[in-house]
Amino acid sequence: MKVAVVGATGLVGTKMLQVLAERNFPVTELIPVASERSVGKEITFKGKQFKIVSVADAIKQKPDVAIFSAGGSTSLEQAPLFAAAGTTVIDNSSAWRMDPTKKLVVPEVNADVLTADDKIIANPNCSTIQMVVALKPLHDKYKVKRIVVSTYQSVTGTGVKAVDQLFNERAGIEGAMAYPYKIDLNVLPQIDVFTDNGYTKEEIKMIKETQKIMGDDSIKVTATTVRIPVMGGHSESLNIEFVNDFDLTEVRELLSNAPGVIVTDDIANLKYPMPLDAHDKDEVFVGRIRRDESQANTLNCWVVADNLRKGAATNAVQIAEYLASKNLIGQAVEA
Ligand SMILES: NC(=O)c1ccc[n+]([C@@H]2O[C@H](COP(=O)([O-])OP(=O)(O)OC[C@H]3O[C@@H](n4cnc5c(N)ncnc54)[C@H](OP(=O)(O)O)[C@@H]3O)[C@@H](O)[C@H]2O)c1
Repeated sequence: MKVAVVGATGLVGTKMLQVLAERNFPVTELIPVASERSVGKEITFKGKQFKIVSVADAIKQKPDVAIFSAGGSTSLEQAPLFAAAGTTVIDNSSAWRMDPTKKLVVPEVNADVLTADDKIIANPNCSTIQMVVALKPLHDKYKVKRIVVSTYQSVTGTGVKAVDQLFNERAGIEGAMAYPYKIDLNVLPQIDVFTDNGYTKEEIKMIKETQKIMGDDSIKVTATTVRIPVMGGHSESLNIEFVNDFDLTEVRELLSNAPGVIVTDDIANLKYPMPLDAHDKDEVFVGRIRRDESQANTLNCWVVADNLRKGAATNAVQIAEYLASKNLIGQAVEA
């Protein structure tokens, strides 16, 4: 398959190339794309060098699949041009996620909504992806009523500039700021911009995207999203109220058997999920599983995943794998 990676020099794009290679996605031709600044530079894929091309040149080559991680405005402008050329676009930005004509997909949860007519498919927000992977087996059994989620998100979620800020601060070097404040030795209770109701856009994404992916607008979600100075992945504290009561042993079993989930929950031996362990893994790790004793039918747990992998690159490649396995990648042109 002819595969374009748009944003190939970025944090997600670099991980995308790594995941495509590791999972042996059938790439017969790779088209790495970045901004005009990077055109002509080289990247390595499976031991070979490839020259970065512009978006316009990539569209001319009519790739079968284009995986985008180049920001919302690039996606809004360029994804329809790829789709019009017959390319299936899988987009990591927030540009298309809440568009009612576009599917928002986490393969473990709702891959079955995809059809050959879907030419622009949205990859959800990283913090939403790991949450719904853990929720799905529990929702199927006990029906989720309300979720209270607090996140502890890695600086890698903001891109190269934020990682540079953290390490510059650590080394005492003055450099460009990705955040309004120092991030090293600090915690920022703000991810993305604030909206009129006092929530940030990241928090609103977690609410709306969860309902869309789970196909259930009755699920209530409230979120507080927080940036912390770690690298390996995002962590989340979930408090989940179900319609029906649960048995803790069964909850552990359901999670252990769920696709893409690893239960790390052995408090006697101080085993619980941490970003250092989740780093560079594709799975979602769940631990600290316990009953909320203050309220009926309510569970607490702790969910960790590598935001650049399952939260972005791996999820996008899994969507491509699903489309390929069902023969849903064709040259039909988006209307
Ligand atoms: N980081 C995460 O955990 C995460 C998770 C899910 C989704 N995302 C989304 O993925 C996207 C990229 O995130 P990132 O963290 O990888 O950011 P990043 O490290 O800043 O990389 C941005 C990439 O986009 C390219 N780009 C910028 N403007 C472009 C243009 N006009 N045309 C073509 N390419 C352009 C850049 O190319 P140059 O090198 O030439 O500038 C670079 O390859 C964002 O939309 C983000 O919201 C990120």
